[in-house]
Amino acid sequence: MPSSVHSSAADRVVVTGGSGFVGRAVVRAFLDRGTPVTVVDTEQLPAELHDDLVTHVAGDLRDAAVRESAVAEGTAGIIHLAAITSVLRSVDRPAETYANNVAVTHELLELARQRGVGQFVLASTNAVVGDIGHGTITESLPLRPLTPYGSTKAACEMLLSGYSGAYGLATCALRFTNIYGPGMGHKDSFIPRLMRAALSGDGVQVYGDGSQSRDFVHVDDVVQGIMAAWDKQYDGTAIIGHGRSISVLELIDAVREATGEPLPVTHVPAKNGEMPAVIVQIAQAQRELGYTPAVELTDGLRTVWEDFRRAADATGTR
Ligand SMILES: NC(=O)c1ccc[n+]([C@@H]2O[C@H](COP(=O)([O-])OP(=O)(O)OC[C@H]3O[C@@H](n4cnc5c(N)ncnc54)[C@H](O)[C@@H]3O)[C@@H](O)[C@H]2O)c1
Repeated sequence: MPSSVHSSAADRVVVTGGSGFVGRAVVRAFLDRGTPVTVVDTEQLPAELHDDLVTHVAGDLRDAAVRESAVAEGTAGIIHLAAITSVLRSVDRPAETYANNVAVTHELLELARQRGVGQFVLASTNAVVGDIGHGTITESLPLRPLTPYGSTKAACEMLLSGYSGAYGLATCALRFTNIYGPGMGHKDSFIPRLMRAALSGDGVQVYGDGSQSRDFVHVDDVVQGIMAAWDKQYDGTAIIGHGRSISVLELIDAVREATGEPLPVTHVPAKNGEMPAVIVQIAQAQRELGYTPAVELTDGLRTVWEDFRRAADATGTR
C-alpha cells in the first residue's frame, strides 16, 4: 500500500517521477506558481520539495493502489516522467521496461479517462525515431526505435494518440534530447561522468574519435517546454532540445572551460551501434509552444559543476 503524507485542493497536478532529476525541477516550477502537486515516486521526496502544497505518494506505479491514490478526483493533469530511463537497463530487462514504461502509462491514461483528468504530458525521447545518420530529426519522421527503451516510449506515444482521438484527453509527448543540469548526480550519462572525472582529476574515455554529435538541453529549458505545453493544453508531439548539436570532443572542451579542470582524454574503440549523430529541429516547439531555449552550454555546465562540488563538499569526498 502507498503511504501518503499530505493531501488537499482540487486542480492539482500529478508529477510521476517527481523525485527524479527532471521531476524535481518540474515540481519546483509548479510550486513557484502556487499550484498543488502530487509527487508519486518510489524514491523519497527530496528535502527541497518539502512544502505544504506537495502530497507525496511513495510507491511503485505498477501497483494499482499507488496509481489510484496518486490520481485523486480533482486532478487537473498528469505530467508523466516516471520510467526506466536507462537504455542499457532496458536492453538487459525488456519485460521490466515494458511493465514500467508502457503498462504504467496505459493504466494512468485509463485513470485519467475515468476520473475526468484534462491533460496528460509524457516525457518521450528522440530515440523513438532510431538512427537516421546525420539527418535532422523532426516530429514527422516514422518511428523506428532500436532499443526496448525507445520502443516503449514509441508505444506510449501511440497510446496517448489513441486516448486523445477517442476521449478528447489533451495528450502531449515531448521528445527530449540529452538533458543536463543540477540534480543529475545519480545518473551515469556522459556529463555526470565528466563531472566526476573533473572532481577526481581522472581522465575520461571517449569511444572512437569523439566526433559523434549530440544535442544537450539544460533542465531549465526542459521545464520551460513542459510548462508551456501544460499552459496551452497542447495536444501533439514536440521535440524539446537545444537545437544545436556538438561533438563529444566539443562537449569535453566546454566542460574544461566550465570546471577549469584539464580532463585528459583516452580514446577507446568505438561501440557497435552507437549513433553517429543526433541533430534535432525544434521549430515545432518554437511555433506551437513559444519554446525558446535560453541556457548556453558553458553556463549550463557551470550549474552542474556547482551542484557536483556542493555534493562532494557535503559528503567530504573532495
Ligand atoms: N534525462 C534525459 O536526458 C532524458 C532524455 C529523454 C527523455 N527523458 C525522460 O524524462 C523522464 C525523466 O527522466 P529523468 O532523467 O528525470 O529520470 P530519473 O531516473 O532521474 O527520474 C525518474 C524517476 O521515476 C521514478 N520511477 C521510475 N519508475 C517508477 C515506478 N514504477 N513507480 C514510481 N516511480 C518510478 C524513479 O524513482 C525516479 O525518481 C523519463 O521518462 C525519461 O525517459 C529523459
